[in-house]
Amino acid sequence: MAGLIPQNFIDDLISRSDIVEVINARVPLKRKGKEFTACCPFHNEKTPSFTVSENKQFFYCFGCHAKGNVIGFLMNYEHLSYVDAIETLAADQHLDVPHENNPAADHKRQEKQPLYDILQTAAELYQQQLKTSDRAINYLKQRGLSGDIAKRFNIGYAPQGWDFLVSNIGNTSNRLEALQKTGLIVIKDNNKTYDRFRDRIIFPISDQRGRIIGFGGRILDQGEPKYLNSPETTVFHKGFELYGLYESKQALRNIERIIVVEGYMDVVALAQHGIDYAVASLGTATTTEQIQKTFRTTHEIIFCYDGDNAGKKAAWRALENTLPVIRDGMVAKFLFLPEKEDPDTMVRKEGKQAFEQRIQQASTLSDFLFNNLSAQSDISSNEGKAQLASKANALIQKMHNSLYKDLLIENLSQLVGLSQQQLESKISTNTQKPSAKAQPVTAVRGQQILLNKTRIAIALLLQNPALAGQHKVPESFVRASNKGLPLLYQLQQSIESNTDISAAALLERFRNTEHEKTLSILSMLNTPETENTDNIFEVYRAIIERLNNEQRELYFNEKLSNNESLSPEEWREYLKRPNQDPENNI
Ligand code: UTP
Ligand code: MN
Repeated sequence: MAGLIPQNFIDDLISRSDIVEVINARVPLKRKGKEFTACCPFHNEKTPSFTVSENKQFFYCFGCHAKGNVIGFLMNYEHLSYVDAIETLAADQHLDVPHENNPAADHKRQEKQPLYDILQTAAELYQQQLKTSDRAINYLKQRGLSGDIAKRFNIGYAPQGWDFLVSNIGNTSNRLEALQKTGLIVIKDNNKTYDRFRDRIIFPISDQRGRIIGFGGRILDQGEPKYLNSPETTVFHKGFELYGLYESKQALRNIERIIVVEGYMDVVALAQHGIDYAVASLGTATTTEQIQKTFRTTHEIIFCYDGDNAGKKAAWRALENTLPVIRDGMVAKFLFLPEKEDPDTMVRKEGKQAFEQRIQQASTLSDFLFNNLSAQSDISSNEGKAQLASKANALIQKMHNSLYKDLLIENLSQLVGLSQQQLESKISTNTQKPSAKAQPVTAVRGQQILLNKTRIAIALLLQNPALAGQHKVPESFVRASNKGLPLLYQLQQSIESNTDISAAALLERFRNTEHEKTLSILSMLNTPETENTDNIFEVYRAIIERLNNEQRELYFNEKLSNNESLSPEEWREYLKRPNQDPENNI
């Protein structure tokens, strides 16, 4: 979706906003020399190690190494998606986010507004009704819920009868249309309207920004269906939303972990007992999109299911959907409750502490994965081992390259007694080749990184985009086998497409690319080269030229050793080339 927002708008937005101002509005900052500091909002600390650089327009924490630009800050701090962070920043500046070549998207947005409005109105009406219905109040009380929690989750009550909404909201054609599009009413052939939710406890479902997008309604007595949900609409897509996510973000500033449960009542009952970090997957298997969304809010997910077969199946689906999403630093665990229990009954029985004890003891993803697969095959036989290896392979293949993936391969190798090489010939992984020559390592604000000329050049260009206009990165770098050189050229091109781009906006263009991590570390690199502001251009040019010379040297060597001929110009260049001095590495 981000692609729909014009890149220039994003660049401009980032250049116009001041990270110090944006952060200071949320985390009060103190000036300290050239930078600003505060106690870090992303981990607990007593002495400030969170710093914001006004010059570089980046933040960095020496304690937990959180870092990034203004968009990254908003995403982390407010638990927003990329697009939502851009919208938040734009709203601060009273700008509307345009959608490139996509008037349809703008139109869609205008179309959605009446739906959000009508859903909000309905939610308020249902809440009022709850206050007047002893029956509904008693039901909630009997399920152990306090008025406070009912209020926090905006729980309401849809009264009996067929026309509660229409008679309270009105039957103008606009209202009827909005009510119908949200699925709150059904209009029959004879133009008669019927409320979808009647005599049910109402659980409003909010999106990430707190807008109500749909409802779940529970019957008070016995009956079918026990829960009725809003249908899929233009504002409600079940597979993408999580009940309770917005409410947890409201309750907690810093969400260390999220527990994913099955039902509305589970979320609410856990909150009632002080466990504010539960969300429900709306009665479907937890989807990849839901998991992705959750990982944007926290780094640890605990999937909680019944211990019965259905629960195990649902957990396995969640595992399969987690693999394509999980990255280093993220944790997924699985918690199985005793049969016939759900989080609601469990927490009411044993309280917060005991429940959190269970969370602590949840199985790791790898334990669940291997235990479950081992149980399906007889791993004392070679056939069983092969079967296990091939099933596990298929799953591990779904993962991003990561240390975690390597670790799972290692586990598998131990389990089936095949060497990692034998397994790896079947699994593509990012086993890094040891580099030919030792390179100096430096710690960039606590993170180790290999330093070489290419990386210094990248850091210089990233931190000073204006350099691109003064000395061009040669196009031949695109074909270099050293991965950094094509990246350097890519930076040059990004800057050429917008010569006023700021460093922070430049970094933004690489979000969610393989280069994101390296670039964000390099954006904070302080070396004699980057700090030497007096002749930064000279330093940059010298490095680019040396890199270019090295590239040319490689090129000539390859041609000559293959007995290929050089063109007359190439010969001239070859003979005139500067001495290659291997000691003189910058
Ligand atoms: P459960 O049947 O486990 O219900 O459904 P529950 O959450 O324990 O509900 P209580 O405790 O009896 O009130 C779990 C979830 O599955 C969806 C709902 O989202 C529910 O919260 N569901 C269930 C439906 O959508 N429709 C149904 O008829 C039943
Ligand atoms: Mn239940």
